[in-house]
Formats: sequence, C-alpha cells, structure tokens
Amino acid sequence: MIKSVLASFLLATSAVRASPALTERSLDTASNNDPFAITQSARNPRARAAEIEVKRKGWQYSEYPMGVAYYPTGTLANKTIAKDGESWLPPILEIQGHIDEEGPKALENIKAKGGLNKLEDYVNLYDGQWEHAFPDGPFPGMLTNFTDDRLFSMMRLSASPYRIKRVKPSDNLLFDVKEAKSITGLTLQQLKQQGRLFLEDFTEMKELDPTDKFGAGCQSYFYIHPKSGDFLPLAIRPVVKNRENAALVYTPKDEPTDWMLAKLIMNQNDGWHATWAHITQSHSAAEAPYLAAIRTLSEDHPVMKIIHRGKFLPDRSSGASPR
Ligand SMILES: *[C@@H]1O[C@H](CO)[C@@H](O)[C@H](O)[C@H]1NC(C)=O
Ligand SMILES: *[C@@H]1O[C@H](CO)[C@@H](O)[C@H](O)[C@H]1NC(C)=O
Ligand SMILES: [Fe+2]
Repeated sequence: MIKSVLASFLLATSAVRASPALTERSLDTASNNDPFAITQSARNPRARAAEIEVKRKGWQYSEYPMGVAYYPTGTLANKTIAKDGESWLPPILEIQGHIDEEGPKALENIKAKGGLNKLEDYVNLYDGQWEHAFPDGPFPGMLTNFTDDRLFSMMRLSASPYRIKRVKPSDNLLFDVKEAKSITGLTLQQLKQQGRLFLEDFTEMKELDPTDKFGAGCQSYFYIHPKSGDFLPLAIRPVVKNRENAALVYTPKDEPTDWMLAKLIMNQNDGWHATWAHITQSHSAAEAPYLAAIRTLSEDHPVMKIIHRGKFLPDRSSGASPR
C-alpha cells in the first residue's frame, strides 16, 4: 500500500509541493539515507502537517461491511483499495472458477459411489477431487484420522486456541465427569489440582436466535494425559436454551457415534466462533488503529513503516477470507 499512498500524495499534494516549504523538505530528504523521523524530529513540520492534512481529507471513515470497525473511504482510500484489490481479487476469482468447474464433478463422483450413507463416505467428497480448487486437500489426517480424539483436540488448538483456558485449582467446576478416573487415571479434582484440566466454553451460543434446527452451546473439558502427555478431550456438554438442566455429558466412554455427535456440535461452535473472532480479533483490531494512523501520522513516521509492513498478500493456504 505504501507505494500507492505515496503515488497518491504526489498527485494530491502537487499544488502544496510547489510551495517553498515542501521544496526544502525534498532537499532535506534527498540528502538523508533514512527519511523516517518521529514528529518532534521532523525536519519540516509545516510540510509534514500539510501532508497529513491531505491524507485526512483523502481517508475518511465510512461504514464497516461487517458492522464492527469503520471502513475507509475517500479519494486516496479508494485508490488504495482498488490497487490492493488488483492483487487479492484475481486469485480468489480464479479459485472460484475452479470450484464452479470441479463442484459438479465432485457431486457426480459421490453419486457414482452410492452417495453419503456412512461417515466414511464423506472421504469421497475429496478423494481424487478438487484438483485445482483445493490442490492440497483438507489438512493432514482429516480424511484418515477423523475419529481420533487427538485430531479433534489439535483442531481446537489450531482454530481458536485463545478460547481454551487452563482450569485453576481455585476455579469451580462447571459440571462433573464421573468417568474421569476411568478415562484418565485421575479424578476431575485431581486433574484440576495438577493443572492438567482445560475448559473451552461456548455456552453463550445457546442464546443465539434458533432456526428450525436444534443448536447447542457446548462446554468442553480437555486434559493433558498423565502418562502420554497428549492433549485430549475429556467431556462435552451441549447446552440448549431453557433445557439447561437436561444437558447430557458426553465422553469417549459413550457409543462412538454419540461421542462423535458431541464432537461435531463442539466443532460447529468453534467454526461459528472462528468466523466472528476473525472479524473482531483480527480485522477490527488491526484496521481501526491502521486507519487512525494513516489519518494522523506522516508517511515519514517510523510507525507507518511498521504498520504498512502488514500489507495483504494473497495466501492460498489460508482459504477464503470472509472479506
Ligand atoms: C469511494 O468508494 C465508495 C464505495 O465505492 C463510494 O461510495 C464513494 O463515493 C467513493 N468516494 C470517492 C471520493 O471516490
Ligand atoms: C493418523 O493416526 C496415526 C495413528 O495414530 C498416526 O500414526 C498418523 O501420524 C496420523 N496421521 C496424521 C496425518 O496425523
Ligand atoms: Fe479476513
């Protein structure tokens, strides 16, 4: 973005640059290997203030598409947005083209293999499919180890690790897990006392407006196994609004399909959380100060050099962005 911002300045500030102040400044800059300076050390405060004023006019606040932080608008902002779009949009459109072409083929492949009747059939969704749309396929182990509890717990650490917290010895337990000792060798209290117990709590999701399907917000305990050291799920408690007292606790001791169902509900919670956390924890946290910095700091300020470094680069491995 820095190049296009500077290019925009050159156009937008051409009138100001003709003033004696800016001529002095460009002379100063030309004789210095490091053009970055904090405000107090600016060699030409007047030119610097003029530059910021131009940016302030060209970078305005508008709505945010997702309603969290403001999105930039204005002559300079629009130029930068259009310029950035030239790099991130074509790869996305290209992948979309592959999806449109390969989607019907994948559907035919599933039909030819008898449809989706059992869990293992879902592997056919990817087996030999999506050659260009999704060349690397799902992440390693997904098509072979999808019943493995370690795959489930590693997904938690990969998707939204900040939602997992260690249960402190002084914390109250949210629910009991009678099978804890037979699963882990330690009681729930002992796991807690030894710092081996972890909680991921998505119960706030039971408050979301329901559709005609059932949804649940899950509370899940994880633990570090005393012998193997593996990080594993211990219990999942899906909670439905107004039916809290009827909530069941699922553990690996349940029927495999029941335990898998509990893991699926929990996984769905995490997916919903990750979508919105992506907006609030990544986009808003980065974009709000970024826009404020553009509007208040000179491009010569060293902080701008650091901030511009995070410029968006297309990255196929990160998948489609909600934006
Ligand atoms: C910037 O782009 C937005 C969105 O397309 C548009 O509404 C606005 O009028 C543009 N502003 C300028 C100054 O070009
Ligand atoms: C799948 O599980 C097996 C058996 O535990 C393990 O050896 C293998 O590394 C796992 N595969 C991946 C890709 O994680
Ligand atoms: Fe994004």
